[in-house]
Amino acid sequence: MDSVKIGIIGGAGHIGLVHAACFAALGYHTVAHDLKSATLKNIAKGKLPFHEPGLSELVNSSLENGRLLFTDQMNHLKDADVVYICVGTPPLPDDRADISQVEHAVEDLARIIQKEVVLVQKSTVPVGTARKIFTHLSQEALAEKIHLVSNPEFLAEGSAVEDFWHPDRIVIGSKHLEEADKVAFLYNPPGVPVVKTSWENAELIKHASNALLATRISYINEIARLCEKVGGDIRSISRGVGLDNRIGPHFLEAGVGFSGPCLEKDLRSLLSQFYQRGEEAPLLKSVLFINQQQRYLLVKKLEKHLGGLEGKRVGVLGLSFKPGTDDLRDSHSLPVIETLLSRGAEVTAHDPMVVHSSRAEWFNILFPSVKLVHSVQLAAEGSDALAILTAWPEYRELDLLKLKESMVNPVIVDGRNLFYPKILRGGGIKYEGVGI
Ligand code: UDX
Repeated sequence: MDSVKIGIIGGAGHIGLVHAACFAALGYHTVAHDLKSATLKNIAKGKLPFHEPGLSELVNSSLENGRLLFTDQMNHLKDADVVYICVGTPPLPDDRADISQVEHAVEDLARIIQKEVVLVQKSTVPVGTARKIFTHLSQEALAEKIHLVSNPEFLAEGSAVEDFWHPDRIVIGSKHLEEADKVAFLYNPPGVPVVKTSWENAELIKHASNALLATRISYINEIARLCEKVGGDIRSISRGVGLDNRIGPHFLEAGVGFSGPCLEKDLRSLLSQFYQRGEEAPLLKSVLFINQQQRYLLVKKLEKHLGGLEGKRVGVLGLSFKPGTDDLRDSHSLPVIETLLSRGAEVTAHDPMVVHSSRAEWFNILFPSVKLVHSVQLAAEGSDALAILTAWPEYRELDLLKLKESMVNPVIVDGRNLFYPKILRGGGIKYEGVGI
């Protein structure tokens, strides 16, 4: 392993940094390149740009033993055996993914590389991207030197390091089998299925996986709406449905919907890939529609109990798009807060991780009128309602009956179904979940 050198382009980003740290921990000499020099300096001092369980320990030990190097100089990748592209593919205004950073990465590498290299495309890109890059490399007479492989990532935030060590599968799209074998060997995954396939299939597997996860969430949220009408409990239904081995239990939690930097962006990108080819995708369109609706249904519940939001004080519990991360990118909490403010509410917000992270600054700039507080008690004090938006484990432990004493109105709308309505309603709380 010592003889293999791995380069990472986009090494300060979520995917890039996790891969860099894990490959270094596997014993490969790893060089992580990124244009963000200031962020790299912080990483080298042990200050990571985001929270990811287990990551800082890995980064620090690999920095100490010299297996991991951070650099803003592309030249340091010139003798790499394998280079991973882990750059962003942000959405364009029409929802297509912007692949310009991927294209620049290929060009930059092509300029400096001194030997044959396997170039592994990790960033989530529209189907056809690898072939487009290959055509470009062929035109530049580089296709024999740069061997392109598509190897989508399936890391979820908050468990990314765990997901790297224990993937459900590894998907590798390549032109030649030996290139796929080389990449599979790097991960050295005993017992993990490896899907060796074409570039196009690999690119589509990534999109189809994320879209199916999103579909399951919107599906259960749709059933939850009916549940509310008939006095059912969606949690019991999810359990009963998920115990069918053909269905399985995952991604059947009803709530305020999916959010974060990936699921919605990738779903929109997939939709745009249909449209570009003159195709409709009515199922996926509905998945997106239902997800948007979940946020507004939650606000409607608050309005119903408070008789409108004008002048009402709402404590928002949970800002990150899911527990275990301080990531606010495309979090559902942001449009919910925006809607509350636009309807005249005064908002106080709490999040156990965001409040202590650098993301708090960004939040304060985005919502200068929202007070970010350090405890749930402060969010509840004098409030007309609480809205639970992220399923932080510490929120499950809250004594809502006690908390209600400091509220003006005992209204709690729970977008994550953390509590049991009967007990709370019996204790005088106007409690509503999603489908319960
Ligand atoms: C996702 C994919 O899971 C991962 O494979 C891919 O590589 C990147 O995108 P991530 O965005 O980190 O990962 O979060 P994920 O755990 O998938 O959750 C996304 C959203 O769905 C969160 O807002 C979460 O709260 C919500 N969710 C999840 C539900 O509302 N219900 C569920 O049952 C599961």
